[in-house]
Amino acid sequence: MQKSPEIKYSQLFINNEFRDSVKAKTFPTYNPCNGQMICQVQEAAKEDVDIAVEAARKAMEFGSQWRTMDASERGKLIGKLADLLERDIDYVVSLETLDNGKPFSASKDDLEHSATVLRYYAGWADKICGKTIPVDGDFFCYTRHEPVGVCGQIIPWNYPVAMLSWKWGPALACGCSIVMKPAEQTPLSALYMAALAKEAGFPPGVINVVPGFGPTAGAAISGHMDIDKVAFTGSTEVGRLVMTAAAQSNLKRVSLELGGKSPLVVLGDADVDEAVEIAYDAIMENQGQCCCAGSRTFVQENIHEEFVAKATEKVQRRKVGDPWDSATDQGPQIDQLQLEKIISFIEKGTSEGATLKTGGKQIGASGYFFEPTVFADVEDHMKIATDEIFGPVQCIIKFKTVEEAIERANKTSYGLAAGVVSNDINKVMAFAQALKGGSVWVNCWDEVFPQTPFGGFRQSGFGRELGEYALKEYTEVKTVTMKIPQKNS
Ligand code: NAI
Ligand code: MG
Repeated sequence: MQKSPEIKYSQLFINNEFRDSVKAKTFPTYNPCNGQMICQVQEAAKEDVDIAVEAARKAMEFGSQWRTMDASERGKLIGKLADLLERDIDYVVSLETLDNGKPFSASKDDLEHSATVLRYYAGWADKICGKTIPVDGDFFCYTRHEPVGVCGQIIPWNYPVAMLSWKWGPALACGCSIVMKPAEQTPLSALYMAALAKEAGFPPGVINVVPGFGPTAGAAISGHMDIDKVAFTGSTEVGRLVMTAAAQSNLKRVSLELGGKSPLVVLGDADVDEAVEIAYDAIMENQGQCCCAGSRTFVQENIHEEFVAKATEKVQRRKVGDPWDSATDQGPQIDQLQLEKIISFIEKGTSEGATLKTGGKQIGASGYFFEPTVFADVEDHMKIATDEIFGPVQCIIKFKTVEEAIERANKTSYGLAAGVVSNDINKVMAFAQALKGGSVWVNCWDEVFPQTPFGGFRQSGFGRELGEYALKEYTEVKTVTMKIPQKNS
């Protein structure tokens, strides 16, 4: 690992070239370990997004190199990108850890996952088929699954390259072109991925990366008149803005992945030690900055006391510190804003009457490190039980009966994920059917595979990423109907 990787790319990537923004404006990206600037990055504004969209549109024109490329060739390019990511994985891991603060072992897991996602979609490129449909009369009918077109993709900072791979993979497999805005907190790895895409051989304009801020570059994408689809991952609040902008501009297609307040329900028959481990990983992973974090830990009353004691001990052993140290479990939060948000939730939790068992404070004065925290005696109405904290804060909630647990677990406006820990197959099946969430994990958490769809019910968004399901988000269905002549003369 290189603690200070050389920053090779900090400009916008448009039409296969790195270039300054029109106004040559820049913004700083920071190291969350110490709050110091890593470098200045070119900042995209509306006029830069326009140029990127123009390039992406040109790539999609009828007869273009990208449109006429054999689907299998498209697959080879995506596969090549996966190979290049693996070739340079140590460098990209370093870049990701520097810009995001996550421990390098976690960055490595993310990037290995990203390569497998790209490779999975490489395999799909020449397997996207329509149907022949037996209609009445003398007609031959078939459908074509065509690329939806120019895709705007807006991603967050918590899993920068992984979110990129989830969005590039299916878009490229379907033959779309891309204008991606990485999060302003973590622009560096996406720019390096753009350089790898060029090296892999993607034609100009197929992939464009425009770092910048949400209200400017992001809004220029979601409100653009010549973008056909926007895919967004981030907060529910901004998801709403993206959808509104899409509706008020050209009715572009929208898919949203918006986080949640996902319940993990531990039933009374569970092995407590095992359940503590699962619940710990569910909330603590990625500094608690995970859209599908298991952020409400429901525990049945007969094991509740033992669970709280063991969960607290477990969290107290969590090592927070230098992400470059292989013994570190938890790095800093992403920025001052997120840190302050977590602190305000801690205050709210305490004032609303939850019991702070451990943690609850910032660590040190440099960077954005926060103590892993456990609240017990959490009640459903408390802010810490209703709102997404996006930090390493476990909220333990006691329940009596299975029916009650199901009802309370579902009492949220979100629906991204849910889980149950139990060895009672009948109860597990009841939970798997009753819990409202795009993913239900049984005796595990956050097991996500390139092959399995991921996305939300309710205000956690709509549309699915990963798996075959994601292809639907990047294709339009065209019905072709041909009259079959009655006589051949
Ligand atoms: P955010 O939703 O503001 O940012 C996500 C992305 O949207 C970034 O690329 C940002 O630049 C862009 N964006 C912001 N405003 C926009 C606009 N008006 N139009 C278009 N794009 C826009 O999330 P933020 O501020 O980083 O975090 C706030 C909270 O959101 C977190 O505390 C967490 O609760 C949630 N969140 C959820 C994520 C998830 O994975 N579902 C990821 C990041 C944040
Ligand atoms: Mg924001």
